[in-house]
Amino acid sequence: MSTPDWTPDGGSLIVHADNADYLPTLPDGAFTMIYVDPPFNTGRAQRRQQTTMVRSVDGSGDRTGFKGRSYTTVKGLLSSYDDAFEDYWAFLEPRLAQAWRLLADDGTLYVHLDYREVHYIKVMLDALFGRDCFLNEIIWAYDYGGRAKNRWPAKHDNILVYVKNPAAYHFDNAEVDREPYMAPGLVTPEKVALGKLPTDVWWHTIVSPTGREKTGYPTQKPEGLLRRAVAASSREGDWVLDFFAGSGTLGAVAAKLNRRFVCVDANPQAIEVMTARLGHAAAVVVPPKPKPVRARRPAKKSPAGTEAAAL
Ligand SMILES: C[S@@+](CC[C@H](N)C(=O)[O-])C[C@H]1O[C@@H](n2cnc3c(N)ncnc32)[C@H](O)[C@@H]1O
Repeated sequence: MSTPDWTPDGGSLIVHADNADYLPTLPDGAFTMIYVDPPFNTGRAQRRQQTTMVRSVDGSGDRTGFKGRSYTTVKGLLSSYDDAFEDYWAFLEPRLAQAWRLLADDGTLYVHLDYREVHYIKVMLDALFGRDCFLNEIIWAYDYGGRAKNRWPAKHDNILVYVKNPAAYHFDNAEVDREPYMAPGLVTPEKVALGKLPTDVWWHTIVSPTGREKTGYPTQKPEGLLRRAVAASSREGDWVLDFFAGSGTLGAVAAKLNRRFVCVDANPQAIEVMTARLGHAAAVVVPPKPKPVRARRPAKKSPAGTEAAAL
């Protein structure tokens, strides 16, 4: 394995690293599209990080979309009754702030969530990006597995879509696969032949346990789902990023659609699966771990008896 740095003219990368360490090494605005499918509540003790990221399309430089005070209040209220929520928020927020930094001005972020998390992360993304940058909530509807009898069986995931700049983002629905009309008898044969543009509700089967796409990675998402997102929100040759990459579904789609990709995962099994799936299209890299910050010795007293600056 080598350790080449990412360069704009270089090739695709599979990166074995904690994304919190790796993302800050990438330059601002490098990616046209970012897709992430984060784990829910990793159960690990997370180091709290204060994000200082601010965004502003017009340059005024504050958390514009959702006023700072309400954001803090909502966050505080939610944290006060749910410890797991606080951990999850502290884990995800700095990483999504990095996603904002790494997006090009015409870039788009897709965040794959489920019905239990989506509302919290919507609030977080409104704060990080601004409400005017919210483009869509895509519902991925599938029909698989058992059905609860005591409520409506949950058979969908939610994908939040945010753009860096609502006045400049790239979106090309002509590149997207079209769907059959539900009532073909009501439209012209030409329309039937062309199919209709998808809406924000995407019906798609899960990865078939016996199908060719299956890698064995437990949380693998179907390529068909990501193909739409990549096709609409990036162009050939553009850079796309997944920093919770798992089995590398984003990379697989990107390679087929002639995009360049960076897929990051901290789990050695994910790197194994991605190497087998995408090794023909990308180099596998293990960046050096950042050096731990050593505690400084206490500052000596100055002759006047005042402390010398510690930092
Ligand atoms: C839900 S899975 C992603 C599945 C992926 N969308 C696919 O189609 O295979 C989430 C992934 O995030 C990875 N992960 C969790 N915490 C991470 C971190 N701090 N840095 C990098 N990867 C992380 C996990 O190892 C896991 O593979």
